[in-house]
Amino acid sequence: MNHFLDIHKTAPEDLRQIIDQAGQMKTARLGRPKGTPDDEQPLAGHMVALIFEKPSTRTRVSFDVGVRQMGGETMVLSGKDMQLGHGETIADTARVLSRYVDMIMIRTFDETVLTEMAEYADVPVINGLTDRTHPCQIMADILTYEEHRGPIKGKKVVWTGDGNNVCASFLHAAGQFGFDLTFTGPAQLDPEDEFIGFARNAGSKITIERDAAKAVEGADLVVADTWVSMHDSQSSKERRHNMLRPYQVNDALMAHAKPDALFMHCLPAHREEEVTSAVMDGPQSVIFDEAENRLHAQKAVMRWCLGV
Ligand code: CP
Ligand code: NVA
Repeated sequence: MNHFLDIHKTAPEDLRQIIDQAGQMKTARLGRPKGTPDDEQPLAGHMVALIFEKPSTRTRVSFDVGVRQMGGETMVLSGKDMQLGHGETIADTARVLSRYVDMIMIRTFDETVLTEMAEYADVPVINGLTDRTHPCQIMADILTYEEHRGPIKGKKVVWTGDGNNVCASFLHAAGQFGFDLTFTGPAQLDPEDEFIGFARNAGSKITIERDAAKAVEGADLVVADTWVSMHDSQSSKERRHNMLRPYQVNDALMAHAKPDALFMHCLPAHREEEVTSAVMDGPQSVIFDEAENRLHAQKAVMRWCLGV
């Protein structure tokens, strides 16, 4: 049994095996209606709890559909409807859920909820996003990059804007998959030293560049995310927008990247804020492939967790 808590907590060879299996499972389903089962049914007889303490479209639907395609069943739970939201401890919740279900995916605020859940659960726990990281997203992003452009090893990824939870998992991935990452954004929103340090210790070149145009020079992949994450207070919105406006991804900025550079965004996006519609809907954008690949990547993550 394996927990999938973070990219840096999963061995590089396991990450590679998950990405490769995701690609194979995607190919095996090409052209099939979405509701049809996979030929292999590794999750037959398995029940998976999907717990959400924050909103979600992609994570919720892709996990639900993925489990069903592999023959399992899901239970989607809202944190606030559970006793967890009314004082029951995380440890007790984990012990109880382990008696009913075979795997738990949780999207929560504080990452200690995730780690405590994993500590006390007897079944695999998957990180569906916390305030600090979003590993499932980055597995889909690596799959997407490699489908379009081949191995990501040695490539230059440029993260624009807020050094947030998705950026943190990209930094972990830089270390584990061996690519370089340049962060361009305001100093107040730099990624935490811990994430930068992990990638540098693993041998990746991590650069901080305040000038967005300079940062994007020679980029193979340009990535944006919302300027106000779910865990950020709405009262910080105006201040954040003012700080982040110079980092908008638009055609002028993309012109500094390599001509065949891709654009990614985990979605949901705020059109004309962190990215223009021209870029989102343009030829370099792979945002909807990225969204689709959440399904395929997570199916392989779940198989790895259960060892099936
Ligand atoms: N990218 C992502 O995690 O989307 P949701 O918030 O819709 O799940
Ligand atoms: N950084 C965003 C990602 C959403 C999928 C957030 O945490 O709200």
